[in-house]
Amino acid sequence: MKIFSGNSNKKLAAKIAEKLGLELSPIEIFLFPDGEKRIRIQEKVLDEDCVIVQSASTPPDENYMELFIAIDALKRSGAKSVKAFIPYLGYQRQDHVFRDGEAVSLEVIAEILKTVGATEVYSFDLHSPKIPEVFSIPLHSLSALPVFAEKIRKDFSLEKIVLVSPDMGGMRRIKEISETLGNLPIAAVTKNRDLASGEINDSDMEGDVRGKIALMVDDMISTGTTMVDAAEILIESGATKVVALATHPVFAKDADKLLQHSKIERVYVSDTIDVPNHKLFPKLEIISIAEIAAKALKV
Ligand code: R5P
Repeated sequence: MKIFSGNSNKKLAAKIAEKLGLELSPIEIFLFPDGEKRIRIQEKVLDEDCVIVQSASTPPDENYMELFIAIDALKRSGAKSVKAFIPYLGYQRQDHVFRDGEAVSLEVIAEILKTVGATEVYSFDLHSPKIPEVFSIPLHSLSALPVFAEKIRKDFSLEKIVLVSPDMGGMRRIKEISETLGNLPIAAVTKNRDLASGEINDSDMEGDVRGKIALMVDDMISTGTTMVDAAEILIESGATKVVALATHPVFAKDADKLLQHSKIERVYVSDTIDVPNHKLFPKLEIISIAEIAAKALKV
């Protein structure tokens, strides 16, 4: 197996390679003055199984385009198979038509991946369990929940915890991590989003968090609004402390500042997305999913 990396998350790609007992194979990604890229595989890959790691994080279109061209380069160089390892699958929130006239953007991404030559796709904590159905090539759905469960066991007393979904859509995830940790109590903050603007209209609470440490678990933190607003409601509802765990640190806009100055005590995220130095903040802790990724690729 040969493993290559795009530019979006080289740190994670190098960790996965190391866990596999490999080194990242050389790839040239040349940037033209107008922003176009030229990609060249700098190693023989004829009849090899190849993996290309690229997170579709910000800027998603640029990172996806780099991935598409890299897959094409691998295919043209004679690779036997090309696994697109996309730790954060951008555009996954647009997996069906919400309102008349909208595109299904994720289906566009799935079709391009297949057309350029990806034979399989790997990703983490998909927004909805239906997402693999959008793909006509296998999409392996991995999860960071096992590393979060391990972290929770290490850092907290389980009898003091309530696991909280910051929105109703995340209840499946909460039930799963609760079972892993021995059926811990669960609760949810309910929120309504305006479909046109994406703004949150109103929020409420289901379940009892009084006197407990509320651990919110979500698939991603984008602007941080969901977590920060939910933390306010949890404290008002009697939680003694609020902690946030999310697989994908999208950190759009000023999410880093919003989270740092919120009622949330600690924010745990995974390294599916590389958080740039200027977005790191004191409350943040990053946990690696490289081991899970390497195990999945070994199969
Ligand atoms: C939405 O349903 C997702 O699970 C996240 O809750 C959402 O994307 C977070 O967005 P933000 O951080 O902008 O509130």
